[in-house]
Amino acid sequence: MLEVHNLCKSFDKGTVNEKRVFDNLNLNVNKGEFVTIIGSNGAGKSTLLNIIAGSLESDSGEIILDNKNITRLPEYKRSAFMGRVLQDPSKGVAPSMTILENMSMAYNKGKSFNLTLGVSKKNISHFKEMLSQLNLGLENKLNDKVGVLSGGQRQALSLLMAVMKKPKLLLLDEHTAALDPKTSQRLNSITEEIIKESLITTLMITHNMNHAISMGNRLLMMHEGEIVLDISGESKKHITVKRLLDHFDSLDLGDSLSDRALLA
Ligand SMILES: Nc1ncnc2c1ncn2[C@@H]1O[C@H](COP(=O)(O)OP(=O)(O)O)[C@@H](O)[C@H]1O
Ligand SMILES: [Mg+2]
Repeated sequence: MLEVHNLCKSFDKGTVNEKRVFDNLNLNVNKGEFVTIIGSNGAGKSTLLNIIAGSLESDSGEIILDNKNITRLPEYKRSAFMGRVLQDPSKGVAPSMTILENMSMAYNKGKSFNLTLGVSKKNISHFKEMLSQLNLGLENKLNDKVGVLSGGQRQALSLLMAVMKKPKLLLLDEHTAALDPKTSQRLNSITEEIIKESLITTLMITHNMNHAISMGNRLLMMHEGEIVLDISGESKKHITVKRLLDHFDSLDLGDSLSDRALLA
């Protein structure tokens, strides 16, 4: 479904601050795979998702999605077939608009439309049905402004909006990290349910190793722009936090203690 070929990316090229993040990174993701991604701070996890989403340009390399080369496709065009939820609960929604308006916007993504025309009765019952699956009571708050919702409710709404048009790819970048542990757990369950039901190919970055292990069917560990561990199937089922940490230590990294602390 997704192919990343020979990806190279540096920031601040030609300056004293030049930072090479990727030097020929390759990654293939099969249709329906749910990939969790962990890694030390600055490993390039967000940069990778940003390049796939089109919000960052690579220096070279190609991004192929569903056999189409989308390397030069602008972000707004990719968003028609990619869903995305980021860490910040204020980013994925329009706070001054109502739940209904936000959902209508997501529903009409990629079309030019008039908002009033975009909200039909049929859509309203469809939206209510989707919201009630979250078990957060949002189905009775369609006309509430999203700005008054809690962080967890907003992230759940963002997630619903991201998957509403059955994207070919769902990109989650620490989408539960800003939430308290209980809400984070709840949103993770919702995430799992939605992905299981819709079978959307997903890449999910998390800083929580337990979540990376328990969720998804493939796990990637990244470090300094490289994929240093890639496990799926039975190996993924039997991995433990201790083994992940041991693997990280075995990489023989100069500064592994601080990196290990970050990863934990
Ligand atoms: N816009 C940017 N300008 C300069 N450097 C950046 C920028 N974005 C990321 N970086 C650098 O690229 C590296 C990878 O960052 P990032 O992808 O955010 O890491 P991760 O998400 O794995 O923590 C880091 O060293 C970071 O400082
Ligand atoms: Mg990041």
